[in-house]
Amino acid sequence: MFIRRGEGARIEDEDGNRYLDWMMAYGALPLGHAHPAVVGAIREAATSGALFAAATEVEVEVAEILQKIIPGAERVRFASTGTEAVMAAVRLARGFTGRPKILKFEGHYHGWYDDVMVNAHPHPPASLGHRNDPIRIADSSGLNRRALEDTIVAPWNDLAAAERELTRSVELLDNDPFQLVLLGMTFEKKGDQAKARELFEKAFEMSTGSNPPNVHSRAFTRRKLGK
Ligand SMILES: Cc1ncc(COP(=O)(O)O)c(C=O)c1O
Repeated sequence: MFIRRGEGARIEDEDGNRYLDWMMAYGALPLGHAHPAVVGAIREAATSGALFAAATEVEVEVAEILQKIIPGAERVRFASTGTEAVMAAVRLARGFTGRPKILKFEGHYHGWYDDVMVNAHPHPPASLGHRNDPIRIADSSGLNRRALEDTIVAPWNDLAAAERELTRSVELLDNDPFQLVLLGMTFEKKGDQAKARELFEKAFEMSTGSNPPNVHSRAFTRRKLGK
């Protein structure tokens, strides 16, 4: 499908068919396509140079707005895509702990780089293995093989299973100076947030002393934050 133009919530393909855009760039277009304020701001920025290898004042202004919207955002870093943001966050967490393991959930998408392209899409239940021993599935050929070793996968919405995977990973610490980084999840369904909180509290309790960072990856929109 080739898109010719978009305006607000509508898009038009090269044959002139019009659609309601339910994808909205997967979250990166909270104001819809070609919003006049956004187009105006892009125009204005382009006239004074829009890309520098240094910081600009507008980044500080946007960071301060984000801090007002997102509780607990003590520091803000910008990235061009969600994939890059996740890569940077995982690298930071690994650098901080010196440990490479990541825990993620089946079917959760966090971008397309190797470490998170493991069970990143919904797969038929039969291919996922037993909940006690989830099968790690590479979502692409050509992945760095270490991704399958370092990315631990747990079934979603199953606190007991996630706890089991956490315990297993923490047990590895005896033989292995590694710790996991907990990679966050999508909060789409009602009740998920409460479950996620329970899980993170459990992970924190289990990791007290070793202090692994929890990395939450979410393609947020203002609507999802309820503001
Ligand atoms: C939770 C989450 N993390 C990361 C990404 C990757 O973002 P991007 O497509 O901008 O690389 C997505 C994209 O849908 C996402 O939903």
